[in-house]
Amino acid sequence: MSVSDKVVVITGASSGIGAATARLLAGRGAAVVLGARRTERLDEIAADIREAGGRAVAVAADVTRPADLEALVDRAVTEFGRFDVLVGNAGVAKTGPVADLDVAGWSAMIDVNLRGVLHGIAAALPVFRRQGHGHLVTTVSTSGLKIVPTQAVYAATKNAVRTLLEGLRQESTDGVLRTTAVSPGYVRTGLADWIDNPQVREQIQRDMERFAIDPEAVARAIAFAIEQPADVEIGEIVIRPTIQG
Ligand SMILES: NC(=O)c1ccc[n+]([C@@H]2O[C@H](COP(=O)([O-])OP(=O)(O)OC[C@H]3O[C@@H](n4cnc5c(N)ncnc54)[C@H](OP(=O)(O)O)[C@@H]3O)[C@@H](O)[C@H]2O)c1
Repeated sequence: MSVSDKVVVITGASSGIGAATARLLAGRGAAVVLGARRTERLDEIAADIREAGGRAVAVAADVTRPADLEALVDRAVTEFGRFDVLVGNAGVAKTGPVADLDVAGWSAMIDVNLRGVLHGIAAALPVFRRQGHGHLVTTVSTSGLKIVPTQAVYAATKNAVRTLLEGLRQESTDGVLRTTAVSPGYVRTGLADWIDNPQVREQIQRDMERFAIDPEAVARAIAFAIEQPADVEIGEIVIRPTIQG
């Protein structure tokens, strides 16, 4: 029961939950391959991990491009000889009332939150099948469990991924693939900084400051799913601040 020696690819590893997960897993002995678009941040995190004695490489990856996911997975195999876990964590939250008709924001969420995960699956599954094992972890959201105003499209993308993973699980009962959907509530990250609607952005930032949990809490939950023995699949984890309604 250990994450030690696992090779883990993490998308959206340049900040927040992804960065915390990379640091935590590397600290526990995993080799981590960090993917995102902001490469300076990735390089810094990978360098920190290596300085602390861990194993980490950084790769520029935009999850909206299938070839970038293939390159990320290839790098894991060439660098560390194996590829055990994909943490499909990259995400954007262009939240706001549907009536804002933010078509560009809707497309961005579908492209990153849903297509990005599909691109990861397309890159990872052939390698997992070849190896005879693999684990797909995705960061979905409590937004999909308690549907609230301003988060409809974001929640829809997260629930699409939840559905996708359950379907994939049903198709993968030969023991090769494990799937885990992690649903965080409010987590203290920069996710809300990219929200265009100022009222919604400021409200979420205030809530985050008031009661959000640290990204390390989600990283620990992800580690828990990964460290289980191969015959144990943690399908869903819901992790939110104790005082979140
Ligand atoms: N914070 C919360 O309260 C919360 C709650 C529930 C679920 N989540 C989910 O948790 C995940 C991580 O978010 P976070 O809260 O840690 O926020 P964050 O700090 O803003 O992290 C988002 C990550 O996604 C990456 N990303 C965005 N677009 C990308 C793209 N096209 N290609 C590759 N990477 C991309 C960003 O990297 P680059 O910009 O460098 O590419 C960044 O590393 C997301 O899926 C989010 O929906 C967050």
